[in-house]
Amino acid sequence: MQQVNDSGLVKLSSYIDGQWTDGQSGSQLSGDSERFDVINPANDQVVAQVYNAGIAETEAAVLAAKKALPAWSKKSANERAAILRNWFNLMMQSQDDLGRILTLEQGKPLAEAKGEIAYGAAFIDWFAEEGKRVYGDTIPAPAGDKRIIVIKQPVGVVASITPWNFPNAMIARKAAAALAAGCTFVVRPSPSTPLSALAMAELAERAGVPAGVFNVVVGLDSSGMGKVLTQHPDVAKFTFTGSTAVGKILMTQTATTVKKVSMELGGNAPFIVFDDADIDAAVQGALVSKYRNAGQTCVCTNRILVQQGVAQEFTDKFATAVAGLKIGDGLAEGVNLGPMITSQAVDGVHKLVEDTVAAGAKVIAGGKRSIAGKNFYEPTILTGVTNDMPLAANEIFGPVTPIISFDTEEEAITLANDTEYGLAAYFYSRDIGRVWRVGEGLEYGMIGINEGIISNAAAPFGGVKQSGNGREGSKYGLDDYMEIKYLCMGGIDK
Ligand code: SIN
Repeated sequence: MQQVNDSGLVKLSSYIDGQWTDGQSGSQLSGDSERFDVINPANDQVVAQVYNAGIAETEAAVLAAKKALPAWSKKSANERAAILRNWFNLMMQSQDDLGRILTLEQGKPLAEAKGEIAYGAAFIDWFAEEGKRVYGDTIPAPAGDKRIIVIKQPVGVVASITPWNFPNAMIARKAAAALAAGCTFVVRPSPSTPLSALAMAELAERAGVPAGVFNVVVGLDSSGMGKVLTQHPDVAKFTFTGSTAVGKILMTQTATTVKKVSMELGGNAPFIVFDDADIDAAVQGALVSKYRNAGQTCVCTNRILVQQGVAQEFTDKFATAVAGLKIGDGLAEGVNLGPMITSQAVDGVHKLVEDTVAAGAKVIAGGKRSIAGKNFYEPTILTGVTNDMPLAANEIFGPVTPIISFDTEEEAITLANDTEYGLAAYFYSRDIGRVWRVGEGLEYGMIGINEGIISNAAAPFGGVKQSGNGREGSKYGLDDYMEIKYLCMGGIDK
């Protein structure tokens, strides 16, 4: 991989118990020597061939995490923070290489990929510090000879499955919190984007993360590996980022051993533009929210709702801004819209566009595959959409914007909430009363008010309804990796 300066970051096998499982470092785990291709979605070329781990390796990773747990959980928060801080520093020092690896396997433009590295690293920085603030409680007891004390303890071995759309940050957001809490961690990244996860493991090792504390298993057997991670009796907590449909299956599987679970699932984010909005700001907010990562983001705008009085002005300005996007290979200069992950994903999005046009909507930009390559789709805008049309009713996960118009604030809130999802929502308004009413009325876990990009390490990321449960990042993010233990002390009176 010529584009990467530090070739030691390009790893081609799972990382289990501090060993690379290709036999190069003495590991005995390379039972399955078959490899699979990692494909660059910009040109369909093979970026690397990675050893295909399976059920046996996943079980070994869980056992390694179990073995490492006592020593890691007994370290002080300061000791863990020092190691996490090393990891953060190394990731930032390697930001350019990690960004290139990410663009090569995922497709997003390099500037965005490097932004993701900084975003992911920020969770490691954040939780290194936050781990020092895991406070307990004392509670007045109902009887004078008793004392009630509450302590928090790491939940244990954490298993996770992470998606291809943020191959670094979705791992960092989970692993940082888990490790800071004193848990050990196993991740199965998407087999479409294993290289970013393996590079993180290399840097974790360089940072001094002990063997078994952070394990990465890469393989194609999603069902078999998923069952180990969701059902193994030694896994205490399971965490997943991905689609709602898959999340439901995994959640059901975790029930057999009653695991603690957190889920970051799909979204159908409304982006509401009221007639009192700063229209230029709303256009910029919608552009970054919708077309970041070619629209392949759970929190990205899925449908724009615009009030009648400003609908034409907003639509014209938005179309002009979208026309300025440069589509192409994410490593090429000036590109800000990369490929979609596969041609099947392109087909799925195109079908939604066709079905929405058949239902009466009008394409005013794009609406077809791009000449840039078979995994590219033109940035697309449709008007005359209603909330029941396919593009508004489904999570699009592509660079397509349906625009719906509305008359009143109440109508906007009703339309926005008319979905099973509840991850992120956005609205633009300068009216302070409206800001409160709409902010409180939207049934979503995260709301951007006059803001199109809301994700950061200090804020609680997560959804309501069928968008999942639990929160990642922020001071709340550690709670998902900790158990509350109540100590009742009696016999105090003489
Ligand atoms: C996601 O798509 O689930 C993650 C997006 C983000 O963290 O901003």
